[in-house]
Amino acid sequence: MVARLTRREFLYALAAVGGAGAALGTLEIWDLVTPAAEYQVPFDPPRKSDFSMRGRGNDTTVLILGAGIAGLTAAYELEKAGYRCRILEARLRPGGRNWTVRRGSTDTDLDGVEQIARFSEDLYMNAGPARIPQHHTTLEYCRELGVPIEPFTNVNADAYYFNEEDGRFSGGLTGRTVRQRAVKADYVGYTSELLAKVVNQGALDAELSPADREAMIEFLRAVGALGPDDRYLGSGRRGYRNPPGAGNRPGVVSPPFDLSDLLAAGFGHYFPFELEWDQAMMMFQPVGGMDRLPYALARALEGEIVYSAEVRSINSTDEGVEVIYTRDGRNGIQVRADYAVCTIPPRILARINSTFTPELKRGLASVTTIPTAKMGLEFRRRFWEEDDQIFGGITNTNLDIGTIWYPSSGFLSKRGILIGYYNYFDQALSYDELSPTERIERAIAQGGKVHGDVYAREFETGFSAQWNRIKYSEGGWALWADRGENYRLLTQPQGRVYFAGDHLSYVTSWQHGAFESARQAVTDLHQRVLSA
Ligand code: PHE
Repeated sequence: MVARLTRREFLYALAAVGGAGAALGTLEIWDLVTPAAEYQVPFDPPRKSDFSMRGRGNDTTVLILGAGIAGLTAAYELEKAGYRCRILEARLRPGGRNWTVRRGSTDTDLDGVEQIARFSEDLYMNAGPARIPQHHTTLEYCRELGVPIEPFTNVNADAYYFNEEDGRFSGGLTGRTVRQRAVKADYVGYTSELLAKVVNQGALDAELSPADREAMIEFLRAVGALGPDDRYLGSGRRGYRNPPGAGNRPGVVSPPFDLSDLLAAGFGHYFPFELEWDQAMMMFQPVGGMDRLPYALARALEGEIVYSAEVRSINSTDEGVEVIYTRDGRNGIQVRADYAVCTIPPRILARINSTFTPELKRGLASVTTIPTAKMGLEFRRRFWEEDDQIFGGITNTNLDIGTIWYPSSGFLSKRGILIGYYNYFDQALSYDELSPTERIERAIAQGGKVHGDVYAREFETGFSAQWNRIKYSEGGWALWADRGENYRLLTQPQGRVYFAGDHLSYVTSWQHGAFESARQAVTDLHQRVLSA
C-alpha cells in the first residue's frame, strides 16, 4: 500500500528532508558560508598520477552494474585514473531513468504492453529528469562533456492555476482557469493590506519600533502595490482587461479577485514551490533532450558498455567480484573484475542472487519508491503560445494530471509537445491502471478543463511513462522516511562491491544525487585500492 499524500504534504516532506539547506541552517558561524561552501561539495577526481606516483600498475578492473547516471559517472571518473571498466546495462540505451522519448522510442512495460512514440521528427519529451538547478553537479558534467544547455522555464507568471472543487477547495475561483500573476498579485496585495492595517492600528507596537513600523509600511506598499489609504485595489501586475497601448490607451487593469474566493480556492499552496532550494530559477535543460548527457558520458568512456545484459548473480570474494548475466537469450555469461560498482535499483537488486548478507538483502528489499508518471502530448499547433501567450512554464492544477508543462524550446514554431501530466502516488497509480490510449483520453479530458476544446482539437499523438510499470526501474525515486540504520547500511560496500545511485544521497529524484553518489563510491574505492 502506498500512503496517500497530498501534493502539499509531499512537497513539504521533500523540503523537510532537504540535505544542503537543512545542514546550512545548523551552521552557526555565517561568515564561514562563502558562496563556494554553499553550493559545491569538493571533489578530487582520481588521476593517473595517483597510481604512477606510487609505482602501481593501472590494471585494476571494475565492473559497473547499470548505465544510468551513477554507473556512467563511476566508470567515467575511474577511467581518469586508469582503471579498466566495463558496464553491464539491461536496457538497449544508456541513461536509466534519464530517458528522452522521441519518434520511434518504444516501451514494453512489465505487463508486456507496448508503446511506440509517433512524435514528429525533432520533437521529444523528457520522461524522467527534465530540469537542472544552477547549483547542481549535473551542470559541471555538461560543461566538462560539452553538452550545450538552454534555460528551462520552471516558473511563468502567465501560466495558469486551475483548481477544481474537490471537498478541500471551493468558492468562486474553483473550476476557473486563472493566470498565476493575477492570483499572486492579489494574494500579496490583500495580505499586505491586512498587515498594514494591523501595523497602522498599533497592534504590533510591542514587536516593532516606530522606525520599524515606518519601514514595514514602506515595504508593504511596495510588495503589495497598495494604493491610497494603504488599500489594495489591484495593479497592472495582475494583468489587464485592456492592455496598455498607443495613443489614448493607458490600459485598464482587470479587477482583483475576491479575497475569500482566493483563499477558498487554495492557490496559495503553489507559491512556495518556486522558492525551493532545487526549484528556483534559473534552471536548465540540455539542448535536444536530457539524454544528451548520458550519451555524452557513454561516448567519453573507453570501456565497453554491454547492453541488453541482465545481471543474474553477484558473487564477491576475497579475490574479486564475479557476475553472471544473460544476454539476448544466452544464459550464464560470466565476467570477473577486481571490484564492482552496483547501481541497480534496490528492490530489483534484492531479487538477484548474491553473496550479500541477509541484513543487506532485507535492507534493499525495504526501500520504497514513489509511483510517478509523465505524459507527452504532441499538438499540431502551439495554441498555448498563439492563443494564451504562454512561452514555457508550468500550469498547476488539483486534477489527477498534476501539472501541465509548456515546452522551453522551439518557441514560435508550429508544433510542440506538452507534458500533459506529471503526477505522483495515487494519481500516477490511477493512470498505471489504464491502457496507453485510455491514459491519453483522460489526459486530454483533464487538460481540456484548463485549456478548453482546443486541447482535443489540436491533439496529434501521445506517449506515457508510468515509472512503476517500466522494466528495470519499477518505480520513481527512493522515499526515505529517515536516513537511519538502513540508509547507512546501504551506503557501505559489501566485500568488493560498492553501491551508488541517487537513492544513496540526500538529493533523491535529482541527477545531482546520482553524480554525487557515484563520486563518493569512486573516492571510497580508489582510496581502498591506493592503500591496499
Ligand atoms: N526532482 C523531481 C522534479 O523536479 C522531483 C521533485 C518534485 C523534487 C518537486 C522536488 C520538488 O520534478
